[in-house]
Amino acid sequence: MTPANQRTLVDNASVKALLARGRKLATPPLRAAVARLAPPMDTVASYHFGWIDADGRPSEGDGGKAVRPALALLSAEVAGAEPEAGIPGAVAVELVHNFSLLHDDLMDGDEQRRHRDTVWKVHGPAQAVLVGDALFALANEILLEQGTAEASRAARRLTRATRRLIDGQAQDISFEHREQVTVQECLEMEGNKTGALLACAVSIGAVLGGADEETADFLESYGHHVGLAFQAVDDILGIWGDPDATGKQTWSDLRQRKKSLPVVAALAQDGPAAERLGTLLRADAGKSQAEFEDFDEDQFAARAALIEEAGGREWTSQEAQRQYTSALAALDKIEMPDRVREELTALADFVVVRQR
Ligand code: IPE
Ligand code: IPE
Ligand code: MG
Ligand code: MG
Repeated sequence: MTPANQRTLVDNASVKALLARGRKLATPPLRAAVARLAPPMDTVASYHFGWIDADGRPSEGDGGKAVRPALALLSAEVAGAEPEAGIPGAVAVELVHNFSLLHDDLMDGDEQRRHRDTVWKVHGPAQAVLVGDALFALANEILLEQGTAEASRAARRLTRATRRLIDGQAQDISFEHREQVTVQECLEMEGNKTGALLACAVSIGAVLGGADEETADFLESYGHHVGLAFQAVDDILGIWGDPDATGKQTWSDLRQRKKSLPVVAALAQDGPAAERLGTLLRADAGKSQAEFEDFDEDQFAARAALIEEAGGREWTSQEAQRQYTSALAALDKIEMPDRVREELTALADFVVVRQR
């Protein structure tokens, strides 16, 4: 078997085309959905999606990678339907995803996303909460107004995934204040906050395209593992990512004392680096938020270096590979055209090697 990184070089064009197709088909209905919002929420949402800048001028800003819409359209093709059958699902998952980002940045105190200031920084926390809620409501509205039995099955999967995403966010926040978090607990939290919606993206198009529940469940299994690989990579980027590529602040997860996978995996090791890290993080827990945020670059760099020395970075990168392998094994259980299988494989490849 060709290693994932080499295959990705080969399939890069196909990944780009899949992401571009998702964006092309989902953006017009997304814009139409956002246009339903009362002012100023329509403007705030348009800023978040990168359609206008902070001064309200039209812009070609970074609207995100659009991984979930790409998956939703491919998912329709798994069921033998045209990709267009998945459009309401693609729009709905992207709306829920963006709802989660608006609230997430507020909860995580993050000031940068997609290479610009976050919504709560520009428009205030109330708008971030309101627009987030509005996008979630719109997602369900878009699906349910299809009025078909398939769409209500899709809406059931989406609301369940959203509830799990919220469970995961609650776990993530609670771990910030806990001294001990096991790797298993962290994986469960990440399966909820990220795996559930990615899984739903991979089943929703198939459900809309007429797939049975069993096929949809198998697809969710692939999506769940892709989601865990995706979040493992996000956790690596959250500490060591290049802000020019990620569009987020440096050390973002360390600033918020996140118990992300590299941190919990490092703390679980034996040895002097893990011990020194444990001692430092226990002392950090006693500091006021202001004191902690006043850390200079070197203090964050020292923590990142210990996490790496204790093996947390390497473990997380191997975990991304393990989840990738499990995703492809899940894919093997589903019948689908060879081309669709290759494209789902290429998207899984992209997830593990991405830099943003
Ligand atoms: C960020 O998701 C939040 C996570 C689930 C890790 P993405 O990395 O898919 O965000 P965009 O949409 O591309 O900006
Ligand atoms: C990812 O949260 C999951 C959700 C947003 C629901 P993170 O906090 O890890 O994602 P980023 O790094 O801010 O994009
Ligand atoms: Mg965050
Ligand atoms: Mg978060």
